[in-house]
Amino acid sequence: MNKKEILNALKEPFKSFDDELFKLADKTRFENVGDLVLLRGLIEFSNFCNKNCLYCGLRYENANCHRFRLNKEQIINYAKNAVELGLETVVLQSGEDFYYKEKDLIEIISEIKKLNIALALSVGERPIEEYLHFKEAGADRFLMRIETTDEKLYSKMHPKADFSKRKKTILKLKELGFELGTGSLVGLPEQSLNSIADDILFFKEVNADMVGVGPFIASPDTPLKNATDGSFELALKVVALTRIILPYANIPATTAMETIHPNGRILTLRSGANVVMPNIVDYEINKNYLLYSNKASNQFGVKETLNSIKDKIISINRIPK
Ligand code: 5AD
Ligand code: SF4
Repeated sequence: MNKKEILNALKEPFKSFDDELFKLADKTRFENVGDLVLLRGLIEFSNFCNKNCLYCGLRYENANCHRFRLNKEQIINYAKNAVELGLETVVLQSGEDFYYKEKDLIEIISEIKKLNIALALSVGERPIEEYLHFKEAGADRFLMRIETTDEKLYSKMHPKADFSKRKKTILKLKELGFELGTGSLVGLPEQSLNSIADDILFFKEVNADMVGVGPFIASPDTPLKNATDGSFELALKVVALTRIILPYANIPATTAMETIHPNGRILTLRSGANVVMPNIVDYEINKNYLLYSNKASNQFGVKETLNSIKDKIISINRIPK
């Protein structure tokens, strides 16, 4: 698909979840990555952040965010739990938190790699040489969303952050040999469909191995608290179009999709997605990892939530792995 076709598909008014676009994305998903739904244990280990993204509840100016940090032992224990739950990948995610020094993260990575599972990092922008050392310590993947390719909007949303640095960092991660995950927010205030089409082309340009997309959800205690939420249907289109232009990519049905629509995860899995990232940190801790409100959670237990996700996957004739 070229840009014009992508843009036309985005402009087309939403009719139904059984539309041609979603069917084509589902078929493309089946033919290229099959019926498996890859489960990745998400360990959100610190909600301290030195960035101030306008949309996010973890921004440093949010004094109402209850901050927590897991120590090395806790993080490694959650990875061990992941193994016990039968998960083959963990994702370590945090705000940009330099309390964890390079050597701390290397120690955690090395310990987790002894468990023989795949490891993805999502810890934000750090000095490039640290990424190299994380790779050498055994980290397999790195996730860093571009958020939006609209430079003007990027600067508005990310005080003091530099779009070209973000883009360079993403390219560098790929060059270092990480499997690269990127992605974007759909429905930010003043975001144009034209720039969303560019976001999709960006995923292709950087040859992303994984693409995480979700709607913007207005978060209390942020400057965007009164803004209109992004649309589930539009975000679903972005997922479908991403599948069509990157047939082999791993595409998660993200937490934001499940948060904004009661059946969001399943609808997303039926429109191109093939990954789910269940949160495996106990609810009493991860309830404070509040990027936005009403975040889909595991308040009824880590194992119970995982099992219910697996049951839903099976109910649509897919195979959780
Ligand atoms: N709504 C939706 N997604 C959000 N993120 C942060 N804040 C919000 C929000 N209010 C996303 C960002 C970030 C990811 C971890 O969470 O895209 O990269
Ligand atoms: Fe920090 Fe990420 Fe939230 Fe931005 S989106 S404030 S970098 S946690």
